[in-house]
Amino acid sequence: MRNELKGLVLSGGAGTRLRPITHTSAKQLVPVANKPVLFYGLEALRDAGVTDIGIIVGDTQAEIEAAVGDGSRLGVRVTYIRQDAPLGLAHAVLTAADFLGDSPFVMYLGDNLLRDGIRGLADEFRAGDADAMILLQRVPNPSSYGVAELEDGRVVRLQEKPPEPRTDLALVGVYMFTASILDSARAIRPSARGELEITDAIQHLIDSGLRVDPHVVTGWWKDTGKLEDMLEANRLVLDVIEPRMEGELVGSTIEGRVVIEKGARVVDSAIRGPAVIGADAVIENAYIGPYTAVSDRVVIRRAEVEHSIFLEDSRIEDLDARVESSLVGRNVVIARSTAKPRAYRFMVGDSSAIGLI
Ligand code: TTP
Repeated sequence: MRNELKGLVLSGGAGTRLRPITHTSAKQLVPVANKPVLFYGLEALRDAGVTDIGIIVGDTQAEIEAAVGDGSRLGVRVTYIRQDAPLGLAHAVLTAADFLGDSPFVMYLGDNLLRDGIRGLADEFRAGDADAMILLQRVPNPSSYGVAELEDGRVVRLQEKPPEPRTDLALVGVYMFTASILDSARAIRPSARGELEITDAIQHLIDSGLRVDPHVVTGWWKDTGKLEDMLEANRLVLDVIEPRMEGELVGSTIEGRVVIEKGARVVDSAIRGPAVIGADAVIENAYIGPYTAVSDRVVIRRAEVEHSIFLEDSRIEDLDARVESSLVGRNVVIARSTAKPRAYRFMVGDSSAIGLI
C-alpha cells in the first residue's frame, strides 16, 4: 500500500477559449447547475479519500480563494500554490514540488467533470504498483486531445493533439502520479506552443522504463473549457438533479425536475425542467425551458430562455425571441429599450459574441 494520496487541482491557466467570461473571472468558477465547476472536482477528490489538496492558482487567485476558502466547507484542506504564468500542466506540477514532497498524488484539472467520480480509480492506484495511471476515454475526434497508444495493457506512447491520431483514446483531465513525475517534468523542454506538456513528462516516464497504466472511463467526462462543453456539462448535471422547491410560486406551472432556491419568486411563468433557479431570483411572465441554470438574483421578465446559463445579478427583459444556448455573465443587462431612434445599443466587453435574428 502506498503513502496517503495528495490532490493537486489546477485552477490557473488563461482560459482564452471562454472569453469574455474569463476576462473578469476564473473559468473554474463558472457554475454548472449553479455550482462552480471546481467544486465538483474537489468533492470528487474528497469522496475518493483525498483531502490534503493543493490548488494551483494564477491571476484569479483572489477569486478562487474567496470561493473555496480553506476547503473545510467541502470537507477538504486546501493549500494555495501560486503559478506565476500558465506555462503548462507539467510546469504546474513543478510549481507544486514543495507541497507534493515525495507523496503520490492525483492531479485534477479544475475545469473537468467526471460523472462517476474517481473513487474506484484512486483505490486501484493505491493498491497497485504502477508509477502513474492515466484516465482515458474513447472520443470521436481524438486530434483535439492528448492521445494514448496502448500495448499489452500498458501506455507506450502519448501524443498531444496529433493531426493523424493512432488511436481514439483521449486523455481525460485526471492523472495519478508518483513523485517520479517531478524528475520527468524537470527533464523535458517546452513544446512548440511554449508549454511544459504533461504528455511529454509522461512519455519521459515511459522512456525511462517506468510503468504507466491506462484506465478507460466509461461514464461521461466533460472538459468545460469551451462554451458548448460548458452548456453540455450543465445539461448532463441537470439531467440527474433532485427536484426541490424552497421559493415562492404564484400563478405559475412547473413541469419536470426543477430546483427553486430560497427567496426566488416565480410569478405568472412556466418552468419546464430540468432547470435550476437560484436564490432570490425573479422570474415573471417568463418561460424557462429545459437545461437552464439561473443563478442567484437573476431577473427574467417577459422573456423566454432555455438551454442556457445565467450568472449572478443579470437581468433579461422584454425579449420577443427565445434565448438559447447562451452563457450570460454577471451583472449583464439584456433588455428592450424604448429610446429613440429605434436601434440596438450595446455596451459589450472584449471577445463577446452576440447572435441577432
Ligand atoms: P487548459 O484548458 O488546457 O488551458 P487554459 O486554462 O490556459 O485555457 P485556454 O486553452 O482556453 O486558454 O487548462 C486545463 C486546466 O489547467 C485549467 O483548469 C487551467 C489549468 N492550468 C493551470 O493551472 N496552469 C497552466 O499552466 C495551464 C496550461 C492550465
